Amino acid sequence: MKTSTTPVDIQKAATSKIENTDFNNLAFGQVFTDHMMICDYKDGAWQTPKIQPYGPLEMDPSARVFHYGQAVFEGMKAFKDEEDQIWLFRPEDNFERINKSSERLAIPAFPKEFFFAGLEELLKLDKDWIKKGFGNSLYIRPFVIATEAGVSAAPAKEYKFMIICSPAQAYYSGEVRVKFSEEYSRAADGGVGFAKAAGNYAAQFYPTNLAKDEGFQQIIWTDANTHEYLEEAGTMNIFFRVGDKLITAPTSDRILDGVTRKSIIALAKEFNIDLEVRRVSVKEIVEAAKSGDLKEIFGSGTATVINPIVGFGHAGKKYDLPKLEDSYAGFFKDKLTKIQYNQAADKFNWRYQVK
Ligand SMILES: Cc1ncc(COP(=O)(O)O)c(C=O)c1O
Repeated sequence: MKTSTTPVDIQKAATSKIENTDFNNLAFGQVFTDHMMICDYKDGAWQTPKIQPYGPLEMDPSARVFHYGQAVFEGMKAFKDEEDQIWLFRPEDNFERINKSSERLAIPAFPKEFFFAGLEELLKLDKDWIKKGFGNSLYIRPFVIATEAGVSAAPAKEYKFMIICSPAQAYYSGEVRVKFSEEYSRAADGGVGFAKAAGNYAAQFYPTNLAKDEGFQQIIWTDANTHEYLEEAGTMNIFFRVGDKLITAPTSDRILDGVTRKSIIALAKEFNIDLEVRRVSVKEIVEAAKSGDLKEIFGSGTATVINPIVGFGHAGKKYDLPKLEDSYAGFFKDKLTKIQYNQAADKFNWRYQVK
């Protein structure tokens, strides 16, 4: 799985943009590093991975991705510890998930050796873009797009697998209030909800804009059939704390199997926190909010790690959550980030060193 066994064609950037980058004022996902990884699929095979200077692509306007959305992506992060060592967090899970997403979109699987060889070479070249210090990281965006020209509605025979990277600071999105969806749906049984398919995200923009007009930042999607069960947020899985019990919905073909979510579940077991993985009904959460038993709601995902939610809306009513000193959100964020930054023992073997 190391680069020595897999050739990567490297073309270095003539100059670096790093001196002109203000690392203290980074808007999420706006600035990209000097290089990108790119690998073409043609004639039935993935070709040699390449690393080249970050820059625009030239594509035929009829390429399938523009018309039929045959595209999937991933989100992961690299961290630098105090000794300048570079770490990834559970990268094999992201690798497996992108191929799971690809399979559902009829995109050929990407070889594991190419993924790790390309990613590691890219990170080594752009290592100065990964800043030390808690909260700093490099957001990594692998993605696959169908590039074959022609507007016939069929899977392409040509693709590009790419990785681009963007330096990130600690993510703070302000106070987040969520709306429990009563009308729109994100995913349906037998659909693509479990995949990181580009179209899943586009389809959320309009309902999320409507929710924003009502004073909510995000939507918690409910099951498409009844809207009675809470599933996940736009880019986060979701946890509810009722009393001292944590509850989160089981993954399914409608819900993304989040790496952060499953890490929280493992940590909850380790620290004997009562956690149930089961369907979570809107009714029980509204009742718990009314009785005062609802202590926390938080989202989990790579970009934010843990995102506490301050209130929710449902059926025209708004509910506020208490501000806790000893929140589970804070507890899990501390445990997870210490593992990510190599500041705590890695009992589960989640860290992966890039060297
Ligand atoms: C729909 C959705 N749910 C959940 C998550 C959280 O997953 P992870 O923890 O692997 O980042 C993401 C982000 O990747 C997402 O897009």
